[in-house]
Amino acid sequence: MEKKRILTGDRPTGKLHIGHYFGSLKKRVELQESGEYNPYILIADVQALTDNFNNPEKVRKNVREVAMDYLSVGIDPNKTTIYIQSMIPEVAELTVFYSNLVTIARLERNPTVKTEIAQKREIFGESVTYGFLGYPVSQAADITAFEGKFVPVGEDQLPLIEQCREIVRKFNSIYGDVLVEPEAVLSSGKRIKGLDGNEKMGKSLGNAIYLSDSEEEISKKVMSAVTDPNRIKKDDLGNPDICMVAYYHHLFSSKEEIKTVCEECKAGTRGCVACKKQLAKNMIEELKPIREKRAYYEAHPEEVDKILMEGTKKAREVAKQTMKKVKQAMKLNYFE
Ligand code: TRP
Ligand code: SF4
Repeated sequence: MEKKRILTGDRPTGKLHIGHYFGSLKKRVELQESGEYNPYILIADVQALTDNFNNPEKVRKNVREVAMDYLSVGIDPNKTTIYIQSMIPEVAELTVFYSNLVTIARLERNPTVKTEIAQKREIFGESVTYGFLGYPVSQAADITAFEGKFVPVGEDQLPLIEQCREIVRKFNSIYGDVLVEPEAVLSSGKRIKGLDGNEKMGKSLGNAIYLSDSEEEISKKVMSAVTDPNRIKKDDLGNPDICMVAYYHHLFSSKEEIKTVCEECKAGTRGCVACKKQLAKNMIEELKPIREKRAYYEAHPEEVDKILMEGTKKAREVAKQTMKKVKQAMKLNYFE
């Protein structure tokens, strides 16, 4: 039996950080390695433009950065098809067809879109663009063009998958049973807090550790992480539960080390500087293979381009087949 396609992707608006790593990338590599699926990853440059239309250079640059991040964490182009969204015109065509099947009110009610619009006041002001409001329609095209059955996503993306399912049902009820209805698979990954303790790690917040950060950058950032504010002198009793260094020790250090960190912190026998140095060492060690692989691709941009070109070519063939079926169903196959 043919393996089910799974579809994931990211907007190329910045390099990927350890929040992405723990939140989704690890899971994608796991799914890839299980051998049970046929995974596709899209670099969603068209979607990135919906809120960065005034910054095409940023999107262009980050397409390759994100591709290198994927490759360096172990996304294997022989097992996973990596492609660039804007180079699949069928996805744009589908978006136009689907736009008849969604009301403006429904898009305005989409919780993910609503939250994002609220966060992006500086771009949109009081009035959002047609393109941004409609990006869930384009995302439905991303998924259905590849007959994506499973979509591993974080919780914030669930309303987008629900919206896609509605579009699929509507399409199939009008034009016939053509589209595959996708299912969201919640990636078990966790959301990683920022160095400053913010719930979210993000570029705009300046609190992220990137997969591409050098050893020096990692050390510097770890040194700046927020610790228990009540600890001023080394022998003050500390509370690791409110310290970001302890939080990251839980992600990067061994069980014994974590135990020691917490015990010594609470007893006031641990210095924060030493504690941070130990964390930085472990983090540097854990991210080393990723950093090395990334350095390889940075030195071989032609290989990255080749992978993207080949993945995109393969993806295009799949999208073309879906488009043929869609046009037939919609009676747009005039000269067949
Ligand atoms: N919306 C996703 C994000 O912001 C990116 C994305 C675009 C995507 N198309 C997709 C994710 C299709 C899963 C499936 O990161
Ligand atoms: Fe945080 Fe470590 Fe300092 Fe405790 S000793 S407050 S865990 S940095």
